[in-house]
Amino acid sequence: MKLFVDTGDTEEVRRAADWGILDGVTTNPTLIAKSGKGFKETVVKICELVPEGEISAEVVATDYDTMLKEAHEIASWHPNIVVKVPLIESGIKLVRTLTDEEIKTNVTLVFTVSQALLAAKAGATFISNFVGRVDDMSDDGMAAVADTVAMVDTFGFESEVLVASVRHPLHVVQAVQAGAHIATMPIKVMEMLFKHPLTDSGLTRFLSDWNNAGLSIF
Ligand code: E4P
Repeated sequence: MKLFVDTGDTEEVRRAADWGILDGVTTNPTLIAKSGKGFKETVVKICELVPEGEISAEVVATDYDTMLKEAHEIASWHPNIVVKVPLIESGIKLVRTLTDEEIKTNVTLVFTVSQALLAAKAGATFISNFVGRVDDMSDDGMAAVADTVAMVDTFGFESEVLVASVRHPLHVVQAVQAGAHIATMPIKVMEMLFKHPLTDSGLTRFLSDWNNAGLSIF
């Protein structure tokens, strides 16, 4: 399973990359706007910070012709870029074109398995199923993830299911249990994955026993 960080902040990418477990980065127009930096400079920097990673960068037009021009521009910035495309009619048409051109795509703003089916049929590399935004509306966002993973497995689609809009570590656990291929999350959630009070208290005890015994490794 791949772990991506969801951010437009290059310092957060640097921190996550330093752990050596980062497989990629997702951005969206909101996150790029929040970074206060230019789109291209931010995305290229992220690609440099995660040289083996898959880096998603999103088109912002909604008509096919302009989306195609934006997709070609974005894809030209770095070989590791995955063009992120919203699940609208022109977006699915765009994904089909980009698939035929062997440009990787990440279909975003997917909330149902029927939407995911369209993305898979168009050849999407990643299907970004948003969970937290559905949970925020008192519904079960993870249900569509499980259905989409089953659909991809049953019919042999090549798309990878990416759990997006992750709010807390339980979403990551549920993504694992659902068999999702990728989870993307804010760095705050990724940091929480390390934490367990028994890890902290256990380490404190180990070190105190070691030091009290006057032991040393060297
Ligand atoms: C994914 O690629 C999206 O950028 C992201 O997960 C959206 O998360 P949000 O619902 O917290 O904005």
